[in-house]
Amino acid sequence: MRVLLGDGDELPELYAAPDQPWLRVNMVATVDGAATGEDGTSRSINTGADKVVFDLLRDTSDALVVGAGTVRIEGYAVGRKPLVVVSRTASVPPTQRKAGRGKVLMATVSTAPYLEEARQILGNENVLVLGSHRVDLARMKDELVLRGFRHLLSEGGPHLLRDLLDQGVADELDATVVPRIVAGGHLRITDGPPLDVPLQLHTLVEQDHTLLARWFVTR
Ligand SMILES: NC(=O)c1ccc[n+]([C@@H]2O[C@H](COP(=O)([O-])OP(=O)(O)OC[C@H]3O[C@@H](n4cnc5c(N)ncnc54)[C@H](OP(=O)(O)O)[C@@H]3O)[C@@H](O)[C@H]2O)c1
Repeated sequence: MRVLLGDGDELPELYAAPDQPWLRVNMVATVDGAATGEDGTSRSINTGADKVVFDLLRDTSDALVVGAGTVRIEGYAVGRKPLVVVSRTASVPPTQRKAGRGKVLMATVSTAPYLEEARQILGNENVLVLGSHRVDLARMKDELVLRGFRHLLSEGGPHLLRDLLDQGVADELDATVVPRIVAGGHLRITDGPPLDVPLQLHTLVEQDHTLLARWFVTR
């Protein structure tokens, strides 16, 4: 474990992913545990220090894995990295419908109501059917690694993080705590049925009162 105070020059080294298939999840919350702010998204609780790590983790990933709910609510734009949308419905989020072939993949199930539509929009080869009623997230990871995406970054949301932990697929959680308290009714960084996952603190960085923690999932 390392605790640093000060500038962020060492961040790339501190956040380097191991040379093996690796899936990490990056989330942000306030001191009182809110994963969203007044606009109903995480954008209204971000800080500059969090954005630095957010960008670094994106830059060093091979692909992003994001729950369809977060893609819809946060209006994800088409980005430089391939985006894997996890969805039980296979409904392609509006902002991703005109992305070039191969920029968006859909991880879904055979009973998804919009499966055929997703195949038409994204291309058959970009729709991963990973179960009948539940997306098998371990299979998803294996399939993505086979396609060359060894370092995967998930940006949530809370339901997907909970399921990645439950299915033993998340290797690392990068959890930022921003120096604010917001009260009110907000999601936490996980949502869904209870679970109990032990973590080990790998790195803790403080920058401008933001705490940036790198936790490894132990199992
Ligand atoms: N603080 C943070 O770091 C952070 C990060 C991300 C998001 N957020 C916030 O969290 C809120 C959204 O929360 P959320 O929990 O609804 O997000 P989410 O997990 O991204 O969205 C839930 C939806 O994603 C799909 N999904 C998630 N897990 C799945 C699984 N295991 N298998 C199949 N589909 C799965 C389903 O989509 P279908 O309905 O299409 O089946 C589900 O309805 C937003 O307000 C967002 O701004 C905060």
